[in-house]
Amino acid sequence: HFKRYSNVSNPQNPKRETFSSRRAFMFAAIGSAVGLGNIWRFPYVAYKNGGGAFILPYLVALLTAGIPLLFLDYAVGHRYRGSPPLAFRRLDRRFETIGWWNVLVNVLIGLYYAVILGWAASYTYYSLNATWGANPADFFFKDYLQMASDVSAQMQFVAQVTVPLVLVWLATLLILAFGVQKGVARASTFFMPLLVVMFVLLVGIALFLPGAAKGLDVLFTPDWSKLASSEVWVAAYGQIFFSLSVCFGIMITYSSYMKRDSDLTGTGMVVAFANSSFELLAGIGVFAALGFIATANGQQVGDVAAGGIGLAFIAFPTIINQAPAGALIGLLFFGSLVFAGLTSLISVLEVVIAAVQDKLKTGRVAATLVVGVPMMTASVLLFGTTTGLPVLDVLDKFVNTYGIVAAGFLYVLCVVLSRHLGVLSRHINKTSSLKVGKTWLLFVGFITPLVLGTMLFTDTRSLLTEGYGGYPAWFVNIYGWGTAIGVLVFAFLLSLLPWKHEDKLQETPVETE
Ligand code: ALA
Repeated sequence: HFKRYSNVSNPQNPKRETFSSRRAFMFAAIGSAVGLGNIWRFPYVAYKNGGGAFILPYLVALLTAGIPLLFLDYAVGHRYRGSPPLAFRRLDRRFETIGWWNVLVNVLIGLYYAVILGWAASYTYYSLNATWGANPADFFFKDYLQMASDVSAQMQFVAQVTVPLVLVWLATLLILAFGVQKGVARASTFFMPLLVVMFVLLVGIALFLPGAAKGLDVLFTPDWSKLASSEVWVAAYGQIFFSLSVCFGIMITYSSYMKRDSDLTGTGMVVAFANSSFELLAGIGVFAALGFIATANGQQVGDVAAGGIGLAFIAFPTIINQAPAGALIGLLFFGSLVFAGLTSLISVLEVVIAAVQDKLKTGRVAATLVVGVPMMTASVLLFGTTTGLPVLDVLDKFVNTYGIVAAGFLYVLCVVLSRHLGVLSRHINKTSSLKVGKTWLLFVGFITPLVLGTMLFTDTRSLLTEGYGGYPAWFVNIYGWGTAIGVLVFAFLLSLLPWKHEDKLQETPVETE
């Protein structure tokens, strides 16, 4: 036996909640992984980066970094049984800052992820009668968001954005207040199968639209020359990290709720496979629909292809306007975005709530309120206003580069340099069906730090020399650099706070097998 981090013995510390079964954990983890990243990010990233040829870097990234890091996250969370700050502290006291960094990054992601869900919820409703009319782009920016013409304009609240946003927050917080099993797992077990049914139906309809084949042709025609470009490889790794929810604390938190004897790697393989399958399905559905609209308007697929906001709120409304059964397509597409996003948002906020619970030893409802009320307020103040979109754009870029890639780089580096990989691999192998060995050590210990370091370097260089998205420098300085640096400083300060209820954290688990 090895020293177990359990709070059972201490009457002041209630026992840590667990997922009731492997299935419950699996649904929650898949719910976290399958999100906006799968539906609106993957299809466009794949198309831009070599189409059919992108499959190769994508698979390499999945096998050399995605799955190995998923196992690493599982091992850290499952072994040290805590939200990131507590888990990292138990791993090595000096690493607690990384844990708080994860928490703060999830705060930021939560703030804007909720907004996109709010928009998608509005658009689910608008699909019924194509409220956006003949010009979806104008409608989205001018009528719906009422975007200010320049970013320094006065902030003004926009009711149709704020109301769904508040509703999304209330729904998410209500689910989270019920706890890990009754809230998180139950919601994912309900929404994930529903999402699959809706999405399969959507893809089925899209495939029968005239011109669908043209879209698939464009998506899958391989451009092998792209494989020589380092950008394509960086894009593949970036997609995998975001999509699998690895490297930013989510999987550490979820696996801290897994039972002792859980099969970590077997479960991880199922999660990774489900996530990638959904990604591929989304690529097929989205490009079939784009093929339709390009054919209908006599355009090239490349002219109508877009990712992110452009795809969801401009290209899809255009498709819905012209497709047979447009309203149904709209309901299925925007409804899927809401359900897929909701279970991811839940996982993002779970990291923050778990950290508050660990730190303050509060009950579940109290922790949910402590986290939820200020976050909802900040989210509405920042994004319920006329300058929401540029803030979201800049924040998303910097969160990805510094919150996920840089924090992930430091995380892997710390685990490797403090020589914890061996302990963690033995921990994995103790209960898992698929054993990890030298290959895993090589991927986690060598390949991932190399890739993450390279990504960090290239991204930083481009941000410093080219700025971002054509926004004024002051704007990027505040919302981009300011936030990135602020988060790191704040994370460090949080790590200095004492742990009043610390449960013998100084004892490192000792292997005696
Ligand atoms: N993994 C989540 C997504 O793909 C965050 O959106």
